[in-house]
Amino acid sequence: MNTIGFLACETTLPGAGQRRGDAFEHDLMIGALEPAFSAKGLELRIIDWEAGLSEFDGIELAMLGTALNYQDKPDAFLTRLDKLAANGIMVCNPPEIVRWNASKTYLRELAEAGARTIPTLWRETVTARGVLEAMDTFETDRVVVKRQVGAGALGQELVSRGSLPPKQWEFGHPAMLQPYLPAIAEEGELSFIFIDGELSHALRKRPADGDYRIQSLYGGREEDYQPTPEEHAASQAIMTALPFDTPLYARIDMLRAEDGALQVMEAELIEPYLYPEQGPELGERLAAAISERVR
Ligand SMILES: Nc1ncnc2c1ncn2[C@@H]1O[C@H](COP(=O)(O)OP(=O)(O)O)[C@@H](O)[C@H]1O
Ligand SMILES: [Mg+2]
Repeated sequence: MNTIGFLACETTLPGAGQRRGDAFEHDLMIGALEPAFSAKGLELRIIDWEAGLSEFDGIELAMLGTALNYQDKPDAFLTRLDKLAANGIMVCNPPEIVRWNASKTYLRELAEAGARTIPTLWRETVTARGVLEAMDTFETDRVVVKRQVGAGALGQELVSRGSLPPKQWEFGHPAMLQPYLPAIAEEGELSFIFIDGELSHALRKRPADGDYRIQSLYGGREEDYQPTPEEHAASQAIMTALPFDTPLYARIDMLRAEDGALQVMEAELIEPYLYPEQGPELGERLAAAISERVR
């Protein structure tokens, strides 16, 4: 029996005090993986990534799972992943991918490799004037200001010409500015889940009425989605542009530009939620891909 680690954290593990508002996603992932893994002779060990090192004994491969609090302590997280890897555990996705994926500046690299990305201005800080400049550059009235390092839409701002921030306002984090793409509220964001480089399933995520963030914490909802061959190809092209070997899992989030083409919003390679409800075969696909790796 091979033992597979599923790294979680204190706020996603059940029974550990106060859980995050989206901890139900952890439960859905485990519910999808456990039966498929045991059918393949894989034992799933769900473990806090900050647990004592000896608790990782016997684990052959560790998925990054729901280690969602790594954002608060990225250095400790990477130190731990390096340590696990040094101890012979196959870390999926590996620390070098985590380092590459931790700052959204990787989108620049993808663009250089030919991927369709959302037009973006990269700034160390943003003031009201910087927001206006972005509006002029993109010839638009609405821009989204995001952190280069961030997740879950944390600290994000949607600014329109009618609601400009006050003169002394400053964003205060290394930032990226993008035109607001109206497709988010109309069509939603499309996510493509790849296991070992092959499309497992796709889904569509829509924001709550009046919001533009699709995260479940803001009332976003998901639905099944059958991509067209062109959409599948657009997501596959992002996978092809990744500058390393095929990762065990990846989620490519895309949003439609005004010309109808899909542009990559994020390539999530650290601990993406993989939406098992929209992909009933996810557990089996992961179990099969992992079996290949630990053979
Ligand atoms: N340019 C944009 N146009 C419209 N909506 C956007 C844009 N950028 C981000 N959003 C919304 O904000 C959410 C979070 O942005 P994202 O880039 O995915 O960062 P993260 O998920 O890492 O916080 C997206 O899922 C989407 O709902
Ligand atoms: Mg996102």
